[in-house]
Amino acid sequence: MPESRNTGVDAPPSSFLNDSLLQAALGRVPSRSPAWIMRQAGRYLADYRRVRSLFPNFLDFCRSPEHVCEVTIQPVDQIGVDAAILFSDILVLLPPMGLQVDFKESKGPVISNPLRSDDAIAGLPEGDLNSDLGYVFEGIRLTKKALGNRVPLIGFAGGPFTVASYMVEGGSSKELARLKALLFSRPEAFQVLIGKLASVTAAYLREQVRHGADVITIMDSWAGYLGPDEYRDHVMPHTRKIIAGLKSEFPRIPVIHYANGAPHLLPQFTALGADVVGLDWRVDLGDAMRAYPEQVFQGNLDPCALYAPVETIAAKVAALKEKTGGRPHIFNLGHGILPDISPDHARAFVRAVHGDT
Ligand code: CP3
Repeated sequence: MPESRNTGVDAPPSSFLNDSLLQAALGRVPSRSPAWIMRQAGRYLADYRRVRSLFPNFLDFCRSPEHVCEVTIQPVDQIGVDAAILFSDILVLLPPMGLQVDFKESKGPVISNPLRSDDAIAGLPEGDLNSDLGYVFEGIRLTKKALGNRVPLIGFAGGPFTVASYMVEGGSSKELARLKALLFSRPEAFQVLIGKLASVTAAYLREQVRHGADVITIMDSWAGYLGPDEYRDHVMPHTRKIIAGLKSEFPRIPVIHYANGAPHLLPQFTALGADVVGLDWRVDLGDAMRAYPEQVFQGNLDPCALYAPVETIAAKVAALKEKTGGRPHIFNLGHGILPDISPDHARAFVRAVHGDT
């Protein structure tokens, strides 16, 4: 971008060779549509699996800035995406908050001491945990240096509801019944938990930008488990506050909000103050764009569409492009890329977005 921007500890280059994602995120029509892929640094890439195999423990991998930098850049080099996203996880906040998390091969994250009482919630630290997360900021610093001015780097955190779901449920969960039980039966304790997570997350994201993140994504993947009233009353004010804080300090850093399975919350998401609202595949992109003429959207190819032949992928992308009607838009999958997708098909997706078929 032409304007000089953030007051980073290591100021990033003031202009990118490819700034199409920043342009689109800030509501301008770039010369070429941008694409990135949720979980783009992941198991579908052989080079990722090679680095991953060095670490029996997933969090130790996240804590190694050199390896984080290496895998963050792999999809930029190999798939041609228009942004890098820092390799990390939304659950890195848990250990500094006193919760032990382990990533089990087939079960996903498992928390050995989940929050099971109001006292445990009251005892959680809040505010700035950044001194425990130095490895994330070092990963950002190294990655920015290695990327040079090629493409922007996306930093991220989980949305407070989604992070709370792991802390309360103890892992992945079908109904989020424990967390929702807390909301409905002990709303004050729920508020304390979400409020603490929001303040920790705000401080964490601020530090990511100071270390060079060019875009921020808030992934509140499971917010759609709430109905509109509960989301509006119990979660939305906290997410709004995180976004407002970032935008007031870093007005030129775009904020993307993402949730999965939540078309019923679009009225709320488009009122969060985010520059971009991520959609999954269950909503028609054209309908969303017509309903919210001022909003930039991200998405929303079904991740399973990448199992299709490359010609079909190109046709699906063309259909999505048609729906954007030339408005700024960021192409992505509606959720993370699956581990058995062929890298050739991921490349075909990005090439189709770029119009290079
Ligand atoms: O997108 C990227 O390339 C950056 C890396 C990234 C990871 N997790 C790495 C990861 C990002 C952005 C996340 C976010 C994340 N983590 C979310 C929000 C987005 C979404 O997917 O809805 C959530 C809910 C989590 C929590 C989480 N982490 C789960 C449920 C799992 C297990 C499921 C799985 O895919 O294995 C993880 C582990 C995880 N995080 C892996 C990766 C690459 C797989 C671990 C491995 O390689 O062994």
